[in-house]
Amino acid sequence: MKILVTGGCGFIGSQFVRLVLDEGHEVVNVDKLTYAGNPENVADVADDPRYSFVHADIADHEAMRQAVAGVDAVVNMAAESHVDRSILDPAAFPMTDVVGTAVILGAAREAGVGRFVQVSTDEVYGSIPSGQFRETDPLQPSSPYSASKAGGDLQVLAAHHTYGMDVVITRGSNTFGPRQYPEKLIPLFVTNALEDQPLPVYGDGLQIRDWIHVTDHCTGIWTALREGVAGEVYNVGGGHEATNLHITERILELTGKDDRLVTHVADRPGHDRRYALDTTKLRGLGWEPRSSMDEALADTVAWYTAHSAWWKPIKSGEYRAYYETQYGDR
Ligand code: NAD
Ligand code: DAU
Repeated sequence: MKILVTGGCGFIGSQFVRLVLDEGHEVVNVDKLTYAGNPENVADVADDPRYSFVHADIADHEAMRQAVAGVDAVVNMAAESHVDRSILDPAAFPMTDVVGTAVILGAAREAGVGRFVQVSTDEVYGSIPSGQFRETDPLQPSSPYSASKAGGDLQVLAAHHTYGMDVVITRGSNTFGPRQYPEKLIPLFVTNALEDQPLPVYGDGLQIRDWIHVTDHCTGIWTALREGVAGEVYNVGGGHEATNLHITERILELTGKDDRLVTHVADRPGHDRRYALDTTKLRGLGWEPRSSMDEALADTVAWYTAHSAWWKPIKSGEYRAYYETQYGDR
């Protein structure tokens, strides 16, 4: 197959590009190279003759019309992906996460692409105090980010309903691993700890996330692409529930740093308290997450420790301005 992956220079996208090549297929990587897109993330495959790169915005219809020509499937991962940035600048999010999704979806339909996979998030369900979200639960997004992702999901489901398009949606939980931009909890706290900088815990730190390693998230998307039923949604969760404080303590242990680095700061507005996913449906297609949380977190800390040349340049320039806006007054 020739698979078009959008956002392939990002965190999950770059891992998914490697998975597709390892499975013996061709990849076209479409990426706008926003602040989160890093060509270094795919440097190891850039010379593979089965890999090609298109520098474009998924909201550019003409560019998407050209990019989708001759591909068998589209996996749409390109997104503005950070909740805190969506709170600072909500208008930026629908442009990619809703409009961009609608544009590349339309281009795929016009070209007769076989399958369109929309990579979505558990955050579209909102927060759940106990139990686990199922795919049939209502969409109740709480942040500008998750509202935009929900809008993308609805565009994709509408294309199935209206045109009979072959679409599948995955809703992944909090993902971690190598090459994650150091604005998200785990890479931010690991890199801050390595630099003896404060770890800014929002509020009481007792919010719960359902963590999944990036390799397990990617095999989940791959399973949905290959085995999923058209028009269906599949939750992709690791089942590793942990409070932010627990994750913080583990990071301090693994980096050998003191808990005096922990700084409780003002909470995120509208902060979802807990996410948890029921993954029975995807497991029914033969998928299961394989990583142990303890080992995968230790491996992730080891990766950031060994790859300061990857993250130190990121934590300057645009990042510093963002960091000051986000944390300066907290
Ligand atoms: P990321 O921020 O690391 O990467 C996003 C990529 O998309 C970047 O390479 C960026 O340049 C590209 N991009 C952004 N806007 C674009 C546009 N208009 N056109 C083309 N490319 C564009 O994101 P990530 O964490 O790897 O997330 C990937 C996808 O998975 C997103 O759709 C996100 O909503 C979803 N998701 C992420 C997580 C998580 O915990 N990281 C969990 C569940 C779902
Ligand atoms: O659940 C899936 C989602 O997970 C994805 O769709 C998003 O793309 C991804 O960013 C992530 O969203 P979260 O908001 O859950 O992730 P983040 O890493 O920003 O925050 C995780 C938890 O840690 C959350 O409860 C907020 C808290 N946090 C985060 C940061 C950045 C802090 O306490 N301090 C921080 O500085």
